[in-house]
This record gives sequence, structure tokens and C-alpha cells, in this order.
Amino acid sequence: MIIYVTTAPGLEDVSAEEVESFGFKVKEVRRGKGRVFLEGDELTVVKLNYLARTVERVLILLRFERFESLDDVYRIVRDIDFSFIKPDQSFAIRPSRVGEHDFTSLDVGRIAGQAVIDSYMESRGVRLKVNLDEPDVIIRVDVINDEIYVGLDTTGDYALHRRGYRIYDHPAPLNPVIASALVMLSQWKCDEILIDPMCGSGTILIESAMMYRNIPPQKLREDFQFTRIWGYELLERVKREVFENDVDLNLVGIERFRKHLIGARMNSDRAGVLDTIDYVQGDATRLCLKKGDVIVTNPPYGLRIARKGIIERLYEGFLESASFASRLVVITAEHKILREKAERLGYRIEEERWVRYGGLNTKVFVLI
Ligand SMILES: C[S@@+](CC[C@H](N)C(=O)[O-])C[C@H]1O[C@@H](n2cnc3c(N)ncnc32)[C@H](O)[C@@H]1O
Repeated sequence: MIIYVTTAPGLEDVSAEEVESFGFKVKEVRRGKGRVFLEGDELTVVKLNYLARTVERVLILLRFERFESLDDVYRIVRDIDFSFIKPDQSFAIRPSRVGEHDFTSLDVGRIAGQAVIDSYMESRGVRLKVNLDEPDVIIRVDVINDEIYVGLDTTGDYALHRRGYRIYDHPAPLNPVIASALVMLSQWKCDEILIDPMCGSGTILIESAMMYRNIPPQKLREDFQFTRIWGYELLERVKREVFENDVDLNLVGIERFRKHLIGARMNSDRAGVLDTIDYVQGDATRLCLKKGDVIVTNPPYGLRIARKGIIERLYEGFLESASFASRLVVITAEHKILREKAERLGYRIEEERWVRYGGLNTKVFVLI
């Protein structure tokens, strides 16, 4: 079957590389659309749900087509064979829409829902139950400009960025899927020191530690949508094949505010990695680095936390004091400010890429 995983648009290549690291062959990377396609079976789906760090959802492709109107949406969904749904199971459509259309995502949901009911009635003679709150089967219908993706959601309403360790809620936390991708882009090796000098609630450091200790990102999660279709057997098998280690890592988190540091410790403890992260109250504009240290960070953007002038001074001070670092990976919506300061201070911009993150166009920079 054809499987696709979703991720933050802009990070498709990182997810594709991760998917291939599990031994799966990627068929297509849809850049800018946040989708990576591969072929596989049920075990592939279960492994990706449980082990992939840079993936938001894992879906089984039911149909991908170009379309023009809502009538096409009905026709495309009605043509799908839904006999994998048992007659006593309930379903829900989860629609989404990106682009200019003369209909809403609610219209897509309504039309697609009717198409599923009609298709099942024709093939099995049964009217399927709709349950929008706790469905057994979730069908995602994503309309992106003139394309429509229909997929069986094997992950569920809680996407895979919900790791379960976030006891402390920072006001501007980084999505752990993106945090993992940033660590991968930094090419950090576990014998190097990795510093997040504006660590907030510690997401980047927690994800780094879990990655190198081989702790599954979904270790704390009980339920995936696929268990409602296939049960728990495959999941138990995947869990048995995981071997965690307790390698000691050089991870340092610096943060200005004590309450965030306390929160970062709580989250790290819940994730099982507190013993290998040093958290220090301090200032990102007064770092004492050693040559070769690696920095991965998510500074304030100014939109949510502070004002532009403060951001300019913070970025300048941070980049000045980080000049000993061998590599820096920074994600920010204030990309003009970051680029201007980095260029003026003599950093080489090795990579600069757009990443769509929570309705914001951010950029990820790799600086040397
Ligand atoms: C966008 S948040 C980081 C969120 C973090 N990645 C997480 O997932 O929780 C930026 C953090 O930088 C901290 N910060 C701002 N100025 C700082 C400075 N000069 N030194 C250290 N930390 C600073 C803020 O307090 C805030 O917690």
C-alpha cells in the first residue's frame, strides 16, 4: 500500500531521510506540501507512528487526484472502496483546505462524509455511523489548491508532536517535530557539546537526548488510531525491538527565566532524560563557549514575546557571543534581522530554508 507521512512544510527532505533511515524506500517528496510518500505494509505504519521523530501523522493513501469542484470531491471519495471499515464501526471525516476556493473546509467535510456513506451503502448495504468525537476510523480529506488527498489516518486526532512529556507549558514552545528536525540539520555528534542558549522549556535538548538514547518519541503514548483497526499486536512487536541506552550526553540549556528552567527540568524528568542535561540560568548574550560547540536554538521572535528593538539587540548579542561555535542552527520568524546580523558578524550562511510553522513563515538558518 502507499503510505504518506506529514510534516511541517519545508522539512520534507529531513523527514524523507528519517523514513529511509528505518530502511523504507521513499517514493516521492512533495516539497512545500509537507508530504512524503513511500510503499509499505501495516508494520511500516506502526513503526513510523511509534519511532519517527520528524513526522506529524502517518496515513494510508486512498486517493490523490487533481480536481476542480465540490462535485469532483464527491465523485473521487465515492469511488473509493471503504470495505476495510467494519459495518459496526463509526467514522469521521477530518477536512482541511489550503488555497483559493469557492467552498469551505466544512463543505468538503459534509460532501466527503456523504460520499463515504453512499459508497459503503452501495458496496455493503449498510449505512455507516458518523461519530465526530470518537470515531473508529478517521478519513482525512486535504484540499491543497487543485489537489485532493484522501487518506486513512492511522495516527489519530492527537498528532505525533504530542510526545506526552510536556508537563510545563511554556508560552511559546517549539513543536518537538521541528525541534528534532533542527537537531538532525545540525549534524550534532554525541561527543560534541550541544547548547540551547534560549532553551525555554527544554524541547530541543529533550529531543536531542531522546534521539541519541534511542528513546521512542511516542514512549509515553498509549493510543494510536491504528489500534482500533489492527489491535495492539504489531505495536507490542515494535516496542519489543527497541533497545534504549543510557549514554551520557553533553547537553546544556541556558535560560533567562527561572520559572522556565524549573519547567524544563520537569519536562526532561518526565521524558526520562534529566540526568544528561545541564540547565543553567543565564544570558544568551554572554556565553562562554569552547571551540567546536554546537548551538541549536529557537530565540524569541518578537511577535509573541518581545518587541523588535529588543529582538535586534538580543540577536546581535547572541551571535557575537556565539562566535566560537562550530555550527549554529536557528529557527526564527525574524529572518531579516537574523540574516543581517549574521552577515555583519562574518558568519557563513550554509543553509537558509522556509519552514511553515503554526501559521507562521519561519526560516531555519545553518550558520558556520
Ligand atoms: C521561543 S522561546 C524558546 C522555547 C523553547 N524552544 C521551548 O520549546 O520551550 C525563547 C526563550 O528565550 C528566552 N530568552 C530570551 N532572552 C534571553 C536571553 N538573553 N538569554 C537567555 N534566554 C533568553 C525566553 O525567556 C524564552 O524562554
